[in-house]
Amino acid sequence: MIRIGVIHGPNLRLLGTREPEVYGKDTLEDVNRRLGEAASELGVEIETFQSNHEGEILDFIEKAAPRVSGFLINPGALTHTSIALLDALLGVSRPFVEVHLSNTARRERFRHHSYLAGAAAGVVHGFGAHSYLLGLQGLVARLGKG
Ligand code: DQA
Repeated sequence: MIRIGVIHGPNLRLLGTREPEVYGKDTLEDVNRRLGEAASELGVEIETFQSNHEGEILDFIEKAAPRVSGFLINPGALTHTSIALLDALLGVSRPFVEVHLSNTARRERFRHHSYLAGAAAGVVHGFGAHSYLLGLQGLVARLGKG
C-alpha cells in the first residue's frame, strides 16, 4: 500500500491554542485523526511526525524515505528559512506537497517566500486544517492513486 510521510514542523504541536485566530482551533491530534480518516478513504497509509528541531526533521526525511512514496509537509517557519530542508527533500527524490494552515501570502512579507515551493508537487495554504486534506488528495493523485 502507498505510504505517505506527514511532517509537522516547529510549533505545530501547539495547534489549538497557538494564535487560534490565525491557525484555527483544531489540535495537531485532530489534524492527524482527520488525515488518517482521509487516508483510509483514499486507500493509502500515513505516518505522522512532528518536531521543533530542524535536524530531527532532516533525519526523519532520510530514514522514512525508503518506506514512503511521498511527503506531505507543513514546514512551519522553516518554510522561509531552510535550504537544508529543501536539500533533504530533493535528496531523497520523493514528491512532496507543502501545506500551510494560514494564507501566508496575506501575512507578513517574510512569510511570502518559501524555499520549498519551487520544488513541491503543489502547495496548499489558507484553508486551516483542511489544507492538509487537500494536500493529501493532491499528493495521492500525483502518485497515481485516487
Ligand atoms: C505556517 C505558516 C508559517 O509562516 C508559520 O511560521 C507557521 C505555520 C502555517 O501553517 O500557516 O509555523 O506554516
